[in-house]
Amino acid sequence: MASGRTHRIAVIAGDGVGIEVVEAGLGVLRAAAERHGFTLATDELPWGSVHYRETGEMMPADGIETLRGYDAIYVGAVGSPDVPDDVTLWGLLLPIRQVLDQYVNLRPVRLRPGVTSPLRTAKIDMLCVRENTEGEYSGVGGRAHRGLPHEVGIQTDVFTREGVERIARYAFELARKRRGKLTSVTKSNAGRHAFVFWDDVVADVAGDYPDIELERVLVDAAAAYFVTRPESFDVVVGSNLFMDVLTDLGAAIQGGMGLAASANVKPDGGVPGMFEPVHGSAPDIAGTGVANPVGAVWAGAMMLDDLGEAEAGAAVMRAIEDVLAAGEVRTPDIGGGTGTAELADALVASVRG
Ligand code: NAD
Ligand code: IPM
Ligand code: MN
Repeated sequence: MASGRTHRIAVIAGDGVGIEVVEAGLGVLRAAAERHGFTLATDELPWGSVHYRETGEMMPADGIETLRGYDAIYVGAVGSPDVPDDVTLWGLLLPIRQVLDQYVNLRPVRLRPGVTSPLRTAKIDMLCVRENTEGEYSGVGGRAHRGLPHEVGIQTDVFTREGVERIARYAFELARKRRGKLTSVTKSNAGRHAFVFWDDVVADVAGDYPDIELERVLVDAAAAYFVTRPESFDVVVGSNLFMDVLTDLGAAIQGGMGLAASANVKPDGGVPGMFEPVHGSAPDIAGTGVANPVGAVWAGAMMLDDLGEAEAGAAVMRAIEDVLAAGEVRTPDIGGGTGTAELADALVASVRG
């Protein structure tokens, strides 16, 4: 049933396995679009490390303005061993998140049937909510006296009431739609300014959510609890850096880096969301055709949801579940012997039904 709906997608495949998983992901998303009667009009933006080597910049100066013209942004990964990581990431991904004010970074952690966790438990289903625009990633600081014995490097965390309040409120609302529990992760024993402030703001917001169980956990303990009692987490909210670290741990316990998905959004903000796997460009396996595309495909399903194509998003999620549960087609990271393209083909076939 073609209805003529078209969504404009900016595609930034980026570097390394980013290119491979985005190609796989787009194939699955196009199959879903065809089945559910809409069109994804994609523009591949050749931004990333190759562009940097050619032009000295990761994206054009008006890159973010260009992105504003799209309904969503679909990203692979950026990062190349021959370009400093702070240059690549501060030249592309971090400014996009910050300038578009995509303050929510949503990272589901779910262990699916057919996937083996390194943990004994079988029940992992949490939603990590990462503050995505400030905190440890504010970019405030500098270096001085380079090369001298008294050289210094200063990095200042910036937390604002508005920033903490809006992410806390978003997380409480999510908890209300799920199992009614919110864990707020900080380090307010050592971080006596910013993290005590975070706790205070979260406590203020909690006043509006008496029906939600609020648990406060220090980040070091949270890391251990992700391993020892992951089933106890429902929605987990934390600062930019802490949730960056915890969601790689989350990826690992749900079966591997290649499985984890991420959505950068500004709820009701009138800007495109950015959807990407949690993993990076994986230079150790790039070009070998074995990257797991599931994280990118799952991020694509989150993108379809965000575009208002919930049925198509659900169909992609079902395909992921069915193919993983059947267990016949798996990339090496999850114990199989097939490659990215075969797994993508199996997902496409499943979406087509
Ligand atoms: P990484 O996530 O790229 O790789 C970590 C480990 O996970 C590696 O062993 C890798 O082989 C494995 N892995 C990652 N993706 C996989 C997949 N799809 N299937 C199977 N295995 C997978 O992290 P890293 O090595 O720390 O970073 C590499 C580069 O990526 C760096 O330049 C870093 O800055 C960048 N990076 C970019 C993003 C992003 O663009 N969103 C995210 C993280 C890291
Ligand atoms: C992620 C990545 C980025 C982050 C890096 C590449 C800057 O690790 O999306 O998790 O820390 O946000
Ligand atoms: Mn990360």
